[in-house]
Amino acid sequence: MRKLFVLIPAILIFLGLTASVAFAQDPDAGKTAWEEQVWQCSRCHGAQGEGVFARPLSNSTLTEDEWIDQVRNPRRFMPHFSEAQVSDQQIRDMHAYITALPDPTGDFQRKDPGIAATHPGQELMVQKNCVACHEDVVSTGQGRIVEGFVQRGVTPTTEVVLKQLRTPFERMPAFSESQVSNDEAAQIADYLTSLVSNQSAEAPAAATTPAPANLPATGGEASSNNLPLILLLVGGGLALAGLTLRRRIIGKKPS
Ligand code: HEC
Ligand code: HEC
Repeated sequence: MRKLFVLIPAILIFLGLTASVAFAQDPDAGKTAWEEQVWQCSRCHGAQGEGVFARPLSNSTLTEDEWIDQVRNPRRFMPHFSEAQVSDQQIRDMHAYITALPDPTGDFQRKDPGIAATHPGQELMVQKNCVACHEDVVSTGQGRIVEGFVQRGVTPTTEVVLKQLRTPFERMPAFSESQVSNDEAAQIADYLTSLVSNQSAEAPAAATTPAPANLPATGGEASSNNLPLILLLVGGGLALAGLTLRRRIIGKKPS
């Protein structure tokens, strides 16, 4: 009977430890991250990893470490995400989730957003995949970031656009000079400035327009899995209780 005081806590602690190892890659957390962090991967790689503006990932043969490397030091046209924007653990979880989904059928065709560009900066925003996250701006000439500039009374000069591309605030990934050159940034700035001045001219009331209702939810934190911790705590608690109880029983024994 006394052995149980030791055995049960030991089993729980063991379960807690193995569970932490087993959850090193958590596809459920990966699903949450993929679906809720809409500004990250799914805009370009698709809701099911089927590929939209960039190639599919559900059929990726790269390892999770290679995924992390691609996010931190992206090849060619993919922008860079910092650890604060998407953590290594989230990338591992998303790898587990996405590569388990069915592979896409047929050859991948990059999505054509069907925009007849009338400004070289607009054309660049389609080419460089800005359209993946700023489709409203590129297709209608209005949208979130234009309204933001109007409301703040800021002109998106080359300097402002370059700052956002190289050291973006919030959730936007960074574009290097080899991805969007300074000259290209100047053309994009010229385009955005024309949109902002159109908007300011036609609607002075815009300054008081409330933010659009369909704001994307702030990238939620991936749900943490507390099971291992709970098992460890319960195990530890029982072990302590067991020990005290044992001492008491032993202490009460007549010598
Ligand atoms: C703006 C679009 C865009 C976003 C956002 C984006 N990617 Fe990519 N990604 C690309 C492009 C373009 C490539 C192809 C790079 C190349 O030219 O080799 C790519 C390639 C990759 C590859 C290499 C696939 C392979 O098998 O070669 C991985 C892995 C990857 N992306 C993961 C991610 C993850 C994870 C995220 C989110 C944190 C993400 N990407 C967000 C555009 C994007
Ligand atoms: C993966 C999504 C994503 C991609 C790709 C992307 N952006 Fe952004 N961008 C954002 C987010 C998120 C913000 C923050 C504002 C917001 O929440 O709408 C933002 C904001 C901006 C702003 C506003 C900065 C300010 O001071 O208000 C500019 C300008 C901008 N992006 C330009 C670009 C350009 C140019 C490209 C393409 C080279 C690009 N973005 C590609 C997500 C993206």
